[in-house]
Amino acid sequence: MSTGTARSTPSDTATGCPVTGAGAGAATCPVAFPLRRPGRPFPPPEYADYRDGGEPVRSELPSGPVWLVTRHADVRAVLTDPRISADPSRPGFPKAARTGGAPSADEVPGWFVSMDPPEHDRFRRTLIPEFTVRKVRALRPEIQQIVDDRIEAILAKDGAADLIEDFALPVPSLVIAGMLGVPRADRDFFEAKTRVLVTLSSSDEERDAATAALLRYLGRLIRIKERRPGTDLISRLAATGTLSRQELSGVAMLLLIAGHETTANNIGLGIVQLLTNPQWIGDDRVVEELLRYYSVADLVAFRVALADVEIGGRTIRAGEGILPLLAAANHDDDAFDGAGAFDPERSARSHVAFGYGVHQCLGQNLVRLEMEIAYRTLFDRIPTLRLAVPADDLRVKYDGVLFGLHELPVTWG
Ligand code: HEM
Repeated sequence: MSTGTARSTPSDTATGCPVTGAGAGAATCPVAFPLRRPGRPFPPPEYADYRDGGEPVRSELPSGPVWLVTRHADVRAVLTDPRISADPSRPGFPKAARTGGAPSADEVPGWFVSMDPPEHDRFRRTLIPEFTVRKVRALRPEIQQIVDDRIEAILAKDGAADLIEDFALPVPSLVIAGMLGVPRADRDFFEAKTRVLVTLSSSDEERDAATAALLRYLGRLIRIKERRPGTDLISRLAATGTLSRQELSGVAMLLLIAGHETTANNIGLGIVQLLTNPQWIGDDRVVEELLRYYSVADLVAFRVALADVEIGGRTIRAGEGILPLLAAANHDDDAFDGAGAFDPERSARSHVAFGYGVHQCLGQNLVRLEMEIAYRTLFDRIPTLRLAVPADDLRVKYDGVLFGLHELPVTWG
């Protein structure tokens, strides 16, 4: 997988600090962020240096300083400390790009990933029953049908397909749309808007327009479902009356966005991993290890300290930003033996690819089932599947808070 278009790193010539992250002094020189991922969508090599250094390292974002946390134990400590907030409206909250960043719940009511307890609890309590292992298992036939249909469409293509566009993206997209009761025909619309929101280089105007369009669309859908309810999640949530219409729009938008792009990236990278390591095809244990190994949501868990807190031996002051790097934690040898190796036989369950603590991914049971069905069915139905280009030529997405592949050209037969 090639480097694609690497982002340039900020220059610190005025301070005399090195411009790359490697070897930068933790206390004095800010390290570059986001870091380049040379050649493969794996954690940048600098993460290992940061972990070895022990303490969090300081970086500078347009929004101010941010402490990068890399050790598995420290990442868990950050994500469970009540003195550390996920609310972007708090002073000092780090933003990944010059513009934009995660919306706060003031901007998008119901956007509960940006809320702290106790506000967060009300949303989480309402939604948890919808994403239990038992509830998700009941979706198996529907997910299987979606996967089967996509494979039929691929097989009708005469020997060449792009498995991102034709498989990895539509599968989770259609699954979450089906769950929510969002018409499948509107897939192009919500996927395009989501892409704007997860792309670092999107301008404020582009983000605001995408957010407004999604909220308008979902607001209209909710009003329709209030009059003519179906059995879908939006209809059922609307019927309970526990959330305002505005909050429900925000919740639906969060689920719609969180529900497809992340999973799509993981499905795509997993297909390449299996095609280049075919001994693991047919073994469902790959799912957990793929989640750990690739950690596609490395850069999503931004936080800010509300009080002085000690993390990994360093005091982080109130008002300073913190970014627990999930991929760095998942490649920590102290947590996983030989963490750099892909080994589905290990127990990877303690990974933090889904975060940790109160915001731990609500959709994780769904993700596991989607990945299991996707890989099993794809390799059962198309046993001669192979990459149409060398793995090193696959273009990796860098311009975002999520990692994945732009395209995945394959052939078969
Ligand atoms: C491979 C796929 C996925 C990955 C790697 C992933 C990763 C994550 C991570 C790291 C967080 C925590 C963010 C934080 O602490 O700030 C999170 C939260 C969340 N995820 Fe996922 N996610 C995936 C798929 C999904 C799916 C399919 C859904 C929905 C159906 C979903 C819904 C959510 C929601 C609603 C939250 C916020 C939970 C809360 O704040 O209580 N995710 N996810």
